[in-house]
This record gives sequence, structure tokens and C-alpha cells, in this order.
Amino acid sequence: MAVKLMHPTYLFHTSFLHDPEDKCSTMTEEYFGLLKNEMDAMRKRDTGRNVSNQEKTSWQSNDGVDQNPIFIGAIRQIKRVVRDEVMPFFGARKNCFNIDFHNSWANINGFGAWNSPHLHNGCFYSGAMYIHADGDEGDINFIDKDPKVVGDMPAVPRMNDNVRIPPRTGDLLMFPSGAMHMVAPNLTDKERYSISFNFNVRLLDYTIGKDCDDMIRKDIKNLDNIWHIDDNGDYIY
Ligand SMILES: [Fe+2]
Repeated sequence: MAVKLMHPTYLFHTSFLHDPEDKCSTMTEEYFGLLKNEMDAMRKRDTGRNVSNQEKTSWQSNDGVDQNPIFIGAIRQIKRVVRDEVMPFFGARKNCFNIDFHNSWANINGFGAWNSPHLHNGCFYSGAMYIHADGDEGDINFIDKDPKVVGDMPAVPRMNDNVRIPPRTGDLLMFPSGAMHMVAPNLTDKERYSISFNFNVRLLDYTIGKDCDDMIRKDIKNLDNIWHIDDNGDYIY
């Protein structure tokens, strides 16, 4: 039998320190320690703001992390991942688009802090990179807004309307800006450090109605997302 994945939500997950590992030699544990120290310094300079973050133990900086000299190396690596992996996955040829960092900010969640469900309106893709977290300081939860089943949904593993991912130092997640998500409360006495960002991508010289054949890949494998399954209901890879 064939199964087609319709309207999938593409979450990109890589890590600069763990598996699935990105092979970048400059994103070391020492560098993440430096970023954490800089976030502590930013917190002293910037009283921050309240958006989706809840409780007094949470701090969210104002925008501008991408302009901070300490973070410039990290932002450059995030842009490289978008340029070399994310956009080619979507079918754009490399060097045929601009990546525009719309805004970026820092988050520290202490005991009890959480982020209510929200979207990142006005952008193409958004992301989070964990600067310091062991994994138990509050998962990010991605919530499916599409009622694929109306009325009843059997409790089976592939019918999952909430995807949870634990925070871990060095991990980078990127998701559509319209994907509903929240951060579960931090129930530990450790603080959870992350940065968040939004970005847009524009094909170079693109105008509506223009043929952009020279900017897109012609060799995408399994563009239709059709998978075959065996007699046990497992994908045949
Ligand atoms: Fe968010």
C-alpha cells in the first residue's frame, strides 16, 4: 500500500553538540558557555518584555540578539544551515535566495516559567536554539491546529496532535512561523537558556508571475511524499 503525507509540517532539528550532529567546529561547548554568560549580562542590562512568557521567573530580552557581537558566530551558523540544508530541502537552489533575519531574542526560564501557546506572526520560519538546558527544564510542544479527525481519534501512536521535544544545549529547531507551540513549565530549580528567532527567505529577483525555473532544484527525491508500507504497516525505506 502507498501512504501520502499531505500538508506535512516540516520541523528541522539539528544539534551543534549532540546527535543528529551538525559538523561545525566553531560551535563548541565553550562557545555555548560564552553565550550563556552573555545572556546573564544582557539580563542585567535589559529588563526585558512580556509576550508569551509567563511568571516572574521568566525573562525575555528585547530584539537584537542577531546584532550582539558575541552571538554573530552563532547566527552565521544558523543561516548556513538554512542556506545549505533547509532551503535545498524545500527545493531552492543554493545561492538563489536571501535570508533575512527578521528578529531574534533571548529567553531564560526559571522555576515555574512557561510560554503560553502562540504563533510567530509575519514570518516564514522561526527557530529556537538551546544555549543551556539538560532536557528536563520544560519541553517545547508543537500543537496541531488542523482537526484531521472530527469527533473521535483512537489513541494510536501515529495520531498525535502534540509533539514534545525536550530542550538540550546545542540543539537547533526550526519550524513554520505559523506552527502553534508552547513551552511547558520548568519544574526544576535550573534555569533554561534559549534564543528564538524569525526569518524570511526571498528568491532573488523574484516577482509574481516570473518563471523561477533557474532558482529551483529539479532533482528532488520523493517530492510527492508518497511512502510504501509493508504487511505490518511499517514504512519500506
Ligand atoms: Fe515561540
